[in-house]
Amino acid sequence: MSKVKKAIIPAAGLGTRFLPATKTVPKEMLTIVDAPIIFYVVEEAVKAGIEDIVLIAGRGKHSIEDFFDTSYELEDRLAKEGKSHLLDRLAHIRSMANIISIRQKQALGLGHAVLSGLPVVGKEPFAVLLGDEITMGFRGEPNVTAQLVSSFNETETSTIAIMEVLEKDVSKYGIADVEEVKPGFFKVNSLIEKPKPHQTKSRWALPGRYVFDSEIMNLLKNATPSLNGEIQLTDSMKVLCESRGLNAMTFKANRYDAGDKLGYLQANIELGLRNPELQSGLRDYILAISKKLKNGFLE
Ligand code: UTP
Repeated sequence: MSKVKKAIIPAAGLGTRFLPATKTVPKEMLTIVDAPIIFYVVEEAVKAGIEDIVLIAGRGKHSIEDFFDTSYELEDRLAKEGKSHLLDRLAHIRSMANIISIRQKQALGLGHAVLSGLPVVGKEPFAVLLGDEITMGFRGEPNVTAQLVSSFNETETSTIAIMEVLEKDVSKYGIADVEEVKPGFFKVNSLIEKPKPHQTKSRWALPGRYVFDSEIMNLLKNATPSLNGEIQLTDSMKVLCESRGLNAMTFKANRYDAGDKLGYLQANIELGLRNPELQSGLRDYILAISKKLKNGFLE
């Protein structure tokens, strides 16, 4: 039986890369095809066997909580109109997992957001899924969180997902200095948050999926702000490497930073192409419109 039953989903960031949309709409509520980003993140956690989900929400984030709640008026109307397919979908969303919402009163950084989940996770191991990162698994493969959970169950050591990025992109991510133990599986020696390319030789970036044992919470309690005045999760993970140890693994899935404009559009296209109703219309449109793009203008 899996030891990892809880997950923390930080969704209290300010989303400045997506302004002006995020002035009033939390970025986790922006839509990918027909559901908000956060839905896909929660779905990944549930498919990995997570039962309790701690949503770390901030100011103006009621819509996230409402999304996972009952909407009596709407459901009553759908029932009267016999729209059972939609009704079933809403019921599924409501019953996916126990959603517990905790407010992060100030956006003091990812480390602080994760620590805010302590009253729920206590001394248990837990997964962390960033609320604006979407992964889309390949047919027949377990999703990224499920791959991490399996590794944790086997090794009882905190395990994070890593992916290779280009040198010019290292400054956008937490970067791990790793040592390969077996194909696709690594020991983490150190970490650095959003380094300049000359500060690291590593190209292994953290895409926002983690499974931790409770030691990380002890470290976060004593953490102090660093880069950008925020409590950085990577600082405490760095200490974890030296104490209990930290594993990393590559994964089989496509991953999008949906909190970034390009990543958001790409996630919409991939999910649209995976949707049987939209697939052929969307493919034909993409092929046709790309041919019209000449010298930076659409003809
Ligand atoms: P980001 O690094 O994307 O930060 O956070 P952000 O502030 O939301 O976005 P930008 O850079 O201003 O556009 C990664 C994840 O961690 C959450 C965010 O909601 C996002 O899901 N987060 C970040 C918190 O929950 N609290 C924080 O204090 C910071």
